[in-house]
This record gives sequence, structure tokens and C-alpha cells, in this order.
Amino acid sequence: MSEIAAVILAAGKGTRMKSKLPKILHPICHRPMIERVLDAVSKTGISRAVVVVGFGGDKIKSHLEGKSFGSMKIEFVDQTEQLGTGHAVMQTEKFFNGFTGKILVTCGDTPLLKSETLKKFVEDSQNSSASVMTTDLDDATGYGRVIRDQDGSFAKIVEHKDANESERAIREINAGVYCFDSRKLFDALKKITNQNAQGEYYLPDTLAILKSEGESISCIKISDSNETLGINSRKQLADAEKIMYQWKNLELMDSGVTVSDPDSTFIDPEVEIGIDTTILPGTIIEGNSKIGEDCVIGAYIYIQDSIVENGVKMGPFVHLRPGTRIESEVKIGNFVEVKNSTIGKESKLPHLQYIGDTDMGSRVNVGCGTVTCNYDGKKKYRTKIGDDVFIGCNSNLVAPVEIENGAYLAAGGTITKNVPADNLAIARARQVNFENWNDRRK
Ligand code: UD1
Ligand code: CA
Repeated sequence: MSEIAAVILAAGKGTRMKSKLPKILHPICHRPMIERVLDAVSKTGISRAVVVVGFGGDKIKSHLEGKSFGSMKIEFVDQTEQLGTGHAVMQTEKFFNGFTGKILVTCGDTPLLKSETLKKFVEDSQNSSASVMTTDLDDATGYGRVIRDQDGSFAKIVEHKDANESERAIREINAGVYCFDSRKLFDALKKITNQNAQGEYYLPDTLAILKSEGESISCIKISDSNETLGINSRKQLADAEKIMYQWKNLELMDSGVTVSDPDSTFIDPEVEIGIDTTILPGTIIEGNSKIGEDCVIGAYIYIQDSIVENGVKMGPFVHLRPGTRIESEVKIGNFVEVKNSTIGKESKLPHLQYIGDTDMGSRVNVGCGTVTCNYDGKKKYRTKIGDDVFIGCNSNLVAPVEIENGAYLAAGGTITKNVPADNLAIARARQVNFENWNDRRK
């Protein structure tokens, strides 16, 4: 295969999003769409990508700074005036002096395209001067239509706004993904004009130009049109997110996870879940979270960037905030929040706890209403709890504090001092009963 580089178009303002944020920084399943695009491109084995930025370019550059996408090198070029997709690609020519390989062009606003699909597209493009990815849509409004000759070969692409009625009836659309011989691409770009409905330099016009010069153009149609969904509005963003979550649920079910209500389950693509785990309704699992085997998660659980080991029973109504690790066979029940903490194996947090910045050992029993007081208004402090500790109901643990192995905390204590191993700590006022109080107050 010839050497291959990528160009990613991302200079448009995304007017239809009505946002202060550049469109491609809008997250889809908790990750900015440009990152998902770069990720998919890098996984095809491409080693170099030039991203064309314009509106919000500085925000985009600083957002991507320091992030890596495999070993792919990322460069930026500014398109100061957005004069069209063809004009955008023209700005990249200086990066490709002397480059004779292929250029994959894709858009920053099509985050559902899978790396396998891009990879296959690039492979299938090897023997043509240029290729375009197409798909059939029931509602093709807004997309460029693929016009074919009588013999079925590619003729041209007509933008929706330039199309006549019979062209608008065509269901096959341009997905906005192309693979060009780099020299032929830049030669053809010099020949396109902006004589069209939008007064823009259209990239797809290069295909008709190359065709008229006798070059081979292939249309590569993909079957799952969902992948080509372009995000131009918040509605399309929501549609795309829904599709991504559906894909994830199917992938999980195929790999041996029970998802009892896919419609109310929102699991990010990066999340890993082991076999024979059951996900109950209303579960959201975000980011780089990992769930083990044989767990029951739900109902109504929110997990962010956390690790849950095997055999954990969790729910209903639990919130794991980032940096949490729940070790095997732990039970966590109603209305519990855990943040940036480790809960050792077989510990129990059955109801109404806040555990933050805590290192908890194994087999700890945490009574109802226990709170770690980890913040003094300025700084956060850690709480350390050993193995086999018993924490009575309604305990406050004022950090920094350490409860050593086997200690008992009597209910209702406000623990401000360390508790040595196997001690009982009572930290509450003694109860006083006043005799005949009811008569005396009359
Ligand atoms: C484009 C295609 C259309 C195709 C559709 C697929 C053209 C002329 N039309 O239309 O045939 O069906 O994508 O989704 O190419 N951009 C720039 N600079 C510009 C203009 C656009 O970088 O001057 C970027 C945008 O940020 C975006 C991408 O190019 O990421 C596509 O632009 P957009 O305006 O969304 O094109 P569509 O109207 O969707
Ligand atoms: Ca678009």
C-alpha cells in the first residue's frame, strides 16, 4: 500500500449548533467529537494528520495539545476565511510538498465513522486516483448527492442547494470522506471555482474534474449509513449520541453482559465490562471506567472514571466519582457517593454514605449515614481505614484521620483522633435523662 496521510476538515463555525464552543469540541458520549475522529483515523495506521482549523482554532489547538492518538503526528493549519471544503484542503498543500502517497480527507463533524470502516475504505481506494465514501439515506436533505453515469460509474456530486428536483430525489449521498492521490488532488484543486449556490470552493468538484481528465474515480458505498451522520445541529448531536450508546449496548450484550434495558443505559465506548455482569436500568458509565465480571450494577447508578472489580453488587442510586476503585465482592447500596477512594474487598456500604478521599481496607462495615469530612473549606484531606473495622451508624470521620485494623467506632461519633487497632472509640456526648420531664414542663 502507498504511504498515506490524513487531512481533517474542522474550520467551519458550526453555525447551526448556536454555540460559543467550536462544533468539533462538543462532546459525544463524553469525548469531544474531534478526539473521536482523530482516534478512528489513528487506528487505521495513518501516521500523520493535518487538521484544518478556523473558527475557534486556538481553543481547538490548546485542547488537543499534549493529547496523543497512537503514534499519529498532528499538525494544524489555519483557514482564516471559510471559503469552502475545497479551499480548506488547499491550505494544506504546503505540508505535502514532495509527498506522493495518498491523502484521506475526512471531516471533524462525523464522529461515528469507525476505524474499521475507514481502514477498509483506504484499502479499497488503492487502485483509484480518487475515491469517495457514499451511503444511501432515506432523508438525504442537506447532503451532496452522488450522480452516476448510465453505466453506474461516478459522474459528479451535486450539493443539496445546487440540486434540481430529480437530483434531490437521489438517495445516495456523499459521506464527506475521500481518498486521493495527493499530486492529483492538489492539481485538481487549482481548477475548481466557486460558481455555485453557496459561492464556495467545493472539494467534491475535484472528483468530476479528475474524471474528465480520464482518472479513475470510485464510489465506495457503506451499508451502515449511521456511521456517516454529520453533526451540524444539537438534534444531530443527540441522534449520534443515541446511536453510539446503542452500539455499545449491542457490543456488551454480544460479549456476555446482560443489559436489562438498553434504552435507559448509557455506557461510553471506552468502558470495559466483564462477562456475566448485569446492568440494570438507569445506568450511566462514563469515561475510562472498568467493571469486572459477575457484578450487578444498578438500578440508577452513575459511574465516572472508576474501577469496579469482580462480584460487586451496587445500587440502587449510587454515584462513583472519578478516581474510585471498588474491590471485589463489595456491596454498595442506596444513596451512596464515593469519590477518589478505594474500598477494600468485601466491605459493605449499604446505605446513605459519603466516602471521599479515603483508603478503606477489606471487610469494613460502614454504618448508615457515615460521612467522611474531607474538606476544611480550603484543603482536602484523606481518611485511612484498616481491615475489619466496624463503623457505627451516623459516624463523622474528620480527616486527616486513621482508623486502624479491627477498631470499632460507636454510633453517632465525631472522630477527630486516630483510633488504634482493635480499640473501641466512643466520641459522643453522654446521654442525660431528666425524670418526669413531661410533668415538670407543664
Ligand atoms: C459536505 C459536502 C457534502 C457532503 C457532506 C457530508 C461539500 C461542499 N459538501 O457538506 O457533499 O454530503 O459534507 O457530511 O464539501 N469546513 C472547513 N472549511 C470550510 C468549510 C467547511 O474546514 O471552508 C469543514 C467543516 O468544519 C466541516 C466539514 O468541512 O467539518 C464539512 O463542512 P460542512 O459545512 O459541514 O459541509 P456540509 O454542508 O455538511
Ligand atoms: Ca457537515
